[in-house]
Amino acid sequence: MPLPKAELHLHIEGTLEPELAFALAARNGVQLPYADTEELRKAYLFDDLQSFLDLYYGLMAVLRTEADFEELAEAYLTRAAAQGVRHAEIFFDPQAHAARGVEMGTVVTGLTRALARSEERHGISTRLIMCFLRDQSAASAMETLEAARPYLDHITGVGLDSAEVGNPASKFTEVYAAAAELGLRKVAHAGEEGDPSYVWEALDLLGVERIDHGLRSLEDPELVRRLVADRVPLTLCPLSNVRLRAIDVLEEHPLPRMMDAGLLCTVNSDDPAYFGGYVDDTFHAVHEALGLGQERLRELARNSFLASFLDGSAAEEELRARYLAEVEAYSFD
Ligand code: HPA
Ligand code: ZN
Repeated sequence: MPLPKAELHLHIEGTLEPELAFALAARNGVQLPYADTEELRKAYLFDDLQSFLDLYYGLMAVLRTEADFEELAEAYLTRAAAQGVRHAEIFFDPQAHAARGVEMGTVVTGLTRALARSEERHGISTRLIMCFLRDQSAASAMETLEAARPYLDHITGVGLDSAEVGNPASKFTEVYAAAAELGLRKVAHAGEEGDPSYVWEALDLLGVERIDHGLRSLEDPELVRRLVADRVPLTLCPLSNVRLRAIDVLEEHPLPRMMDAGLLCTVNSDDPAYFGGYVDDTFHAVHEALGLGQERLRELARNSFLASFLDGSAAEEELRARYLAEVEAYSFD
């Protein structure tokens, strides 16, 4: 039985496995530029974030209908349950779908169908986080926020993803202020390829509650002091960092040093269909490559629930307490 955990950095479009991509392509009459799943998998050799994003946005062409999004989320939840996930806060990229004429309602309604039965079917509580594409304009992000208004009951927060360098958080200050007005929680990718200034901006200009990645935070001791003092969680994705060449090999990942520095670290899978593993695979990988022992792994699992957006109501606090108790009671043998 895997260690119980929350997954806080997971792009639902990044769970699109080659087999499902080809099945949806056939169903929707979409021609993919790959002969078969094997040829597609062979293309998963990335030089950096952008080379991944090009393929990732391209493959989304197969996602068209509510049923497609429902099936995508159902497939993820089935895999996540087998990986010990008890709670999942799931990103989606509405602008990437709007570009093909797929509307917000199609995406949210489809995903929500699978999420609504997730506790019962998979034992996983869920949240949806809508990401803005930072390489698109602030006006486009604002339109996306407007388009989401009818669906806000299903959306917990907003995030910021896609190409980081050259697209700092400052571009989205107004959009995040508007999102906060609507009662949405705030996270942002920062410090994945970008330097620590990107993390500072996400904190100071957007007022985010968590940093997605924050990989390069140790480069700035003042930033580390701030993140530690405010207990800002980092949603690290070690397998992603290796595949996108942010680091050379997993053995060089700063996770152990970040934990030693007192940062509230979590470990997540990012885009598991592309990066060679789901979240428990990632826990195993950091155990093997970085020598993180059982108590360090337990700390990461505990942090994942502490950093989750499960809070507020008595019922949610009770759920979080139950998950935390499961982590403490877990036996690695
Ligand atoms: N970084 C930025 N944007 C993304 C990623 C990522 O790792 N995955 C999907 N969109
Ligand atoms: Zn990500």
